[in-house]
Amino acid sequence: MLALSHIAKSYTIEGRTIPVLRDVNLELPAGARMSLIGKSGAGKSTLISLIATIERPDAGTLRIGGEDTAAMNDRKLSRFRNAMVGIVFQFHHLLPEFTALENVAMPLLIGRRVSEAFSEARAMLGRVGLADRLEHKPAELSGGEQQRVSIARALIMRPKVLLLDEPTGNLDEETGLIILDLVLSLADEHKLTTLFVTHNKSFARRMERNYELKDGMLWPL
Ligand SMILES: Nc1ncnc2c1ncn2[C@@H]1O[C@H](COP(=O)(O)OP(=O)(O)O)[C@@H](O)[C@H]1O
Ligand SMILES: [Mg+2]
Repeated sequence: MLALSHIAKSYTIEGRTIPVLRDVNLELPAGARMSLIGKSGAGKSTLISLIATIERPDAGTLRIGGEDTAAMNDRKLSRFRNAMVGIVFQFHHLLPEFTALENVAMPLLIGRRVSEAFSEARAMLGRVGLADRLEHKPAELSGGEQQRVSIARALIMRPKVLLLDEPTGNLDEETGLIILDLVLSLADEHKLTTLFVTHNKSFARRMERNYELKDGMLWPL
C-alpha cells in the first residue's frame, strides 16, 4: 500500500540547507501497522507530510496504492489525497466555529447530499463513542474527545491509509491508551494501513512494526 524508495527531503532557510530525510525506504502492505519514534526534530512530521502528499520529496519515489505520486499534478494529487489518506495531528485541526457533527461531515459535503453526509458523520461519531457530543464545539470537548472527533473526521472519506502524528502527545497516559485502543480497533475494522508516530514506547510496541527515525533514515527496532 505504501512504498517509499530513497526518499530525501531538506529545507533551506536563510541560505542554509538542512537535510531532514536522507534516504528513507519503507514498504507497508495493506492493513499493516507501524509505529515511528524519534527525537524531536528528527523529521517524523516531515515524513508524515510527505506520505500525506502535503509536501513533495526532493528525491526518491513515493507510491501509494501502487500509484506514483510524483506523476500527479497538484489537482489530481489533492483528489487522490482526499480519497486515500486520513491524518490526525497532536493538536486537533478542527474548525472552532463548527460542531463535532459539522466538522466530521464537512469533507463529505462536497459531492454528497447534505442529509447523507450528516447521517454518515453521525454514525462515525457514534463509532468513536461520541453519540452524545454531536452538537458540541471543539472547545466544549475534552482533549480525548477532540481527538476522537479528529479520528472520525480522518476516517469519514474511508481512506486506505491512516497517519497519526503524535495523536496522544497532548493527553494523559490513560486517555492516550483509550485513543490508541480505538485506533487499533478502527484500523482492524477498516483494514487501514496505519503509521502511528509517538513518544510513548509502550504505545509504539502495540503496532506490529516499530521504527526509529534517526540521521534521516528509518531503523527497525
Ligand atoms: N516547513 C519547514 N521549513 C523549514 N524547516 C522545517 C520545516 N518543517 C520542518 N523543518 C525542520 O526540519 C526538521 C525536522 O522537523 P520535524 O519533521 O517537524 O521533526 P519531528 O516531527 O521529528 O520533531 C527540524 O529541524 C525542523 O526545524
Ligand atoms: Mg513532529
